[in-house]
Amino acid sequence: MLERIKETASFLKDKMCTVPETAIILGTGLGSLVNEITEKYEIGYEEIPNFPVSTVEGHSGKLIFGKLGDKDIMAMQGRFHYYEGYSMKEVTFPVRVMKELGIGTLFVSNASGGMNPDFKIGDLMIITDHINQFPEHPLRGGNLYGDRFPDMSEAYSKELIAKAKEIAREKGIDVREGVYVGTQGPTFETPSEYKLFRVMGGDAVGMSTVPEVIVANHCKIKVFGISVITDLGVEGKIVEVSHEDVQKAANAAQPLMTAIMRELINRA
Ligand code: HPA
Repeated sequence: MLERIKETASFLKDKMCTVPETAIILGTGLGSLVNEITEKYEIGYEEIPNFPVSTVEGHSGKLIFGKLGDKDIMAMQGRFHYYEGYSMKEVTFPVRVMKELGIGTLFVSNASGGMNPDFKIGDLMIITDHINQFPEHPLRGGNLYGDRFPDMSEAYSKELIAKAKEIAREKGIDVREGVYVGTQGPTFETPSEYKLFRVMGGDAVGMSTVPEVIVANHCKIKVFGISVITDLGVEGKIVEVSHEDVQKAANAAQPLMTAIMRELINRA
């Protein structure tokens, strides 16, 4: 495993013109941030040795190196989801490669179902913490980096959360904060499952992010995460939901999420 990570990193190092310290996983809601990356150099996942290839509609797969404002960055356009059939090691492989490339901070976004009764569709939620509901742990088995029993007391950087709130305030953008529950999918929740996750302490639920964030913390990469609420798992407000509904709500919220993220990455 370590050899494969090093092989992939060395392949990428040979291609990179810059040495970024910042990585972005362009999840749902952040797709258009890609248009703001300048001096772009793109590599399709299928060209990268050992990289899984993503399959889901609306997620094309490439790694992008370039500049966002003044910052050298690398961005993943398309991520790997557990529900697609990848193992947790595959889902989190890119994060381990990031570490090997020298990344110090990771920005992630996603779409989620809001369970906090104060939330509405289109809200942005800064992720303050998560609850891992995936059936397989990404750190199970051989320990590659870091501690055997990693600390998770600040999985999402408090400093970056504070900066993001400041930016949102300056820009007059309303943001929520909350706990993200990560589930395996691919089903959306039943009303009873939403209720359970709410009782557990969750504000929103989705099918990504948690594995990558666990691995990032394990290898001491700082994390900031933001979620767009695309549907509601609140008793009395639950309606049928489709992937298209999720995409539509996420696209509508995209400009605001992009505005916060762009500025935060520049100030981080
Ligand atoms: N549940 C799980 N994943 C999701 C949801 C949801 O309600 N909305 C967007 N992604």
